[in-house]
Amino acid sequence: MINRRKTLALAGVTLAASASLVAWAETDGHPYDKLVEMGYPAPQEGELVHVPPTMADLEAADMKPQTKAVIRRGYDLFTNTQQLRGKNVFNDMNCSSCHLGEGRQPFSAPVWPAAVTLPNFRGKNQHVNNLEERIAGCFAYSMNGTPPAYGSDDMLALSAYHQWLAKGAPVYPDQPIYGRGFPSPERTDELSYTNGEQLFADNCAVCHSEDGSGLYQDGEYVFPATWGDGSNNWGAGIVRTYTAAGFIKNNMPLGQPLSLSDQEAWDIAYYMTQQERPQDPRYTGSVDEVLEKFGPTFHKHSSYGQEREVDGHRLADHANWGEKGEEVKPWNVGQPRFEDLDVE
Ligand code: HEC
Ligand code: HEC
Repeated sequence: MINRRKTLALAGVTLAASASLVAWAETDGHPYDKLVEMGYPAPQEGELVHVPPTMADLEAADMKPQTKAVIRRGYDLFTNTQQLRGKNVFNDMNCSSCHLGEGRQPFSAPVWPAAVTLPNFRGKNQHVNNLEERIAGCFAYSMNGTPPAYGSDDMLALSAYHQWLAKGAPVYPDQPIYGRGFPSPERTDELSYTNGEQLFADNCAVCHSEDGSGLYQDGEYVFPATWGDGSNNWGAGIVRTYTAAGFIKNNMPLGQPLSLSDQEAWDIAYYMTQQERPQDPRYTGSVDEVLEKFGPTFHKHSSYGQEREVDGHRLADHANWGEKGEEVKPWNVGQPRFEDLDVE
């Protein structure tokens, strides 16, 4: 059964991957023309449009071989983050599980904007973050892990890859950035859990499996887990329903982006973000305490601590940390900085 599903699904992925990559890398006009043809919005006047270089461009670039080797290492870590499993990563994800197209693809939260907009104040942790700390954030929450130390080889390599992708883009741009983040479709009035459940079974389960566990076989990453222990934890950006809806609308089903209606994308997101996953690393032993601190901000947009309508289950009310266990604590969560600086 699993094998049949795997074969079926893999055939789909091969198709999908070639479709989406060819889509915007190998056209005659501007590389993003094809995206617009596929239905993505065209760049607005005044938006910053940047096409990140590829790894082939890196080979051709006039740079020191040592520098190229470090950027290559960063690319390798970004697309196969599982090599850090048990050390920094405690779920079944790679960075590229959510940042499609190797972190280069518009509307799939391309990662290069971080390299040109940071250091900057970040609402999520209430202080000024640099690129390393932004990367560390995705390790703590999205990878249910703990980041490589600042300045370590792995962190340097990952930062170098982000910065390489930003090559030629202006630093601290005044313009908004075309294709940044996972822009959400317009919020519909009513969201339906049961409709989302059915849509997930029909359109997503072939790869992600009905129980959301994806497919991770013999230590090999095939399809990422959309919820459960193999997925991101409750503190990750994608647990916000609008972010999940934006991801889904723009990127899924794989190879058929923008094929779902706004209502469908929202319903699936509503369903998906009401399934269990590892605890938020900011948890102090009480869901109510987390809600006191983050309910008005981050968790305002998630289902954290809410009762699921269909069965009354109180979401995230548990001390399940997933594979990370209780011992591994991401050191970059909840560390205040610059407290003695005056702010106008
Ligand atoms: C479970 C999905 C997921 C995974 C896995 C993930 N991220 Fe993210 N990442 C997000 C979301 C969601 C955002 C926020 C996008 C937004 O602004 O709406 C984000 C944002 C970012 C940004 C900032 C982009 C910007 O526009 O400034 C960087 C950099 C980044 N991630 C790097 C990484 C790295 C490095 C890894 C692997 C260690 C990783 N991410 C893994 C979901 C993920
Ligand atoms: C053909 C297989 C396939 C189908 C169908 C598919 N996905 Fe995915 N999905 C993937 C792959 C593969 C990735 C990770 C991309 C990568 O590793 O390159 C992914 C990534 C994701 C992620 C981010 C990582 C995670 O696991 O949370 C979410 C969320 C997601 N898909 C939701 C959906 C939803 C919702 C649907 C149905 C509307 C869907 N997918 C349909 C293959 C698929």
